[in-house]
Amino acid sequence: MKAAFRYIILGTLFGACSTQKISKPVSDNYNEQHRPQIHFSPEQHWMNDPNGMVFFNNTYHLFYQYYPGASVWGPMHWGHATSKDMINWKNEPVALYPDSLGYIFSGSAVVDYKNTSGFGTNGKTPLVAIFTHHDPVREKENRVDVETQSIAYSLDEGKTWTKYAGNPVLKNPGIRDFRDPKVSWYEEGNKWIMTLATTDRITFFSSPDLKNWTKESEFGKEFGAHGGVWECPDLFPIVYEGKKIWVLIVNLNPGGPNGGSATQYFTGQFDGKTFTPYQTDTRWIDYGPDEYAGITWSNTGDRKLFLGWMSNWQYANIVPTTKWRSANTIPRDLSIRKVGEKYLVASTPVPEIKSIALKSINSGPVNATQFDLTSATGKLNGPAILKLASDNLESFSLTFSNSAGEKVIVGYDKQANQYYIDRTTSGNVDFEKGFAGRHIVPRFALDPGFDMTLVIDNASIELFADKGLSTMTQIFFPSAPYTEMTINSREDFKLNSIQFTPLKSIWTK
Ligand code: FRU
Repeated sequence: MKAAFRYIILGTLFGACSTQKISKPVSDNYNEQHRPQIHFSPEQHWMNDPNGMVFFNNTYHLFYQYYPGASVWGPMHWGHATSKDMINWKNEPVALYPDSLGYIFSGSAVVDYKNTSGFGTNGKTPLVAIFTHHDPVREKENRVDVETQSIAYSLDEGKTWTKYAGNPVLKNPGIRDFRDPKVSWYEEGNKWIMTLATTDRITFFSSPDLKNWTKESEFGKEFGAHGGVWECPDLFPIVYEGKKIWVLIVNLNPGGPNGGSATQYFTGQFDGKTFTPYQTDTRWIDYGPDEYAGITWSNTGDRKLFLGWMSNWQYANIVPTTKWRSANTIPRDLSIRKVGEKYLVASTPVPEIKSIALKSINSGPVNATQFDLTSATGKLNGPAILKLASDNLESFSLTFSNSAGEKVIVGYDKQANQYYIDRTTSGNVDFEKGFAGRHIVPRFALDPGFDMTLVIDNASIELFADKGLSTMTQIFFPSAPYTEMTINSREDFKLNSIQFTPLKSIWTK
């Protein structure tokens, strides 16, 4: 499998540093060229998937795949950061280090309120992390039983973790790609459910105590996209007009709609044993190409909060940054929307982003035939949110450019009924031959009017159209920041309003 090959190469190159501790913080970090200013990225070195996201005692915990030894993938640790609002982050010490069972791959964390695990002592509620141990020695020996599931617990709000002496809690049954457990409490059955990626299927397991797991069922043979391995799944209900709709998220690499890695989802029913989908078509939470390994926070009640890694395995290790590599997307609220007979999952940036909003500038109605946006909003000077709305929708393009002539174009093509982002001439695109290009997301909304929210950072744009029914995320590396914004449309295209909100960096104090 391609994914396995990727680990062998990088694991061999960097295996020697597996026990290295995180280096001292570097005070100048977060000012470098291309460094995201409103997205979480590690102070230095390599990051991939968000892991173990859990909300506990008014704090959002973010753990993440981290290699503290270099800015490329290597022996995986769980890095850690905390936040009160998912926007402003505090870096915390590394939470989990590799050990004799292997690297610490992706997984989840739960609040064990009922102390089913017995890890809680003196009345303290344990946080329990459930993760994949990936054994590089067995991998080198070309064995199949490389990945197992293990647990660790924390009694001090995620600061320190104790690995369970009985690890692994789920042994490998002879499946090479057997990883990324996402665990949640299934109240109706009084048991934990583990959703696990197994080659290009999902296997569900259940447990009374997080230590003993029983296989319940498999899902996926006849459904969804299978262009690569299934990774990082998630399973949760969203209530839509009184009806509980279950959403199964499955990350896929490669095989995404715009190349490389991407996040697909299924809607359906789950009865504590089996997932039964409503749909037969393939759907994507984000058309990418730069949202991957996205899953949701646990313990957030009815609110479903999603966060992805803002990169793509096709080029993640070679994007032109040096001190650090990769950031996360902006956190997003997930909801169900019914379009025709389909239940679709929509994503919108969390409203908490308002905590870094500066004063908004609102234009009145604008004829977008050819409009220099900066005459109304001022130049783009750092991160911002741009919102457009109209009662009708015509083809248009919105260009972000710099004085070097580099540009990213965001637009809508009426004939194809697609939104797109084109980064063909966005700056440094030569590090990987598939990086330059125009990427599309279909329009799913049926209404004549539209709205679009763009979350803009130094090196990324996230597009949410029609209240998040069409979502795509794209990174880029201009030689100088984009400062100009222009809208063009060949038709007579009236926008009701444009709202431009500059955002404060989350890293400068
Ligand atoms: C997804 C993934 C996971 C794995 C982790 C390793 O990006 O490949 O399947 O656990 O990354 O870092």
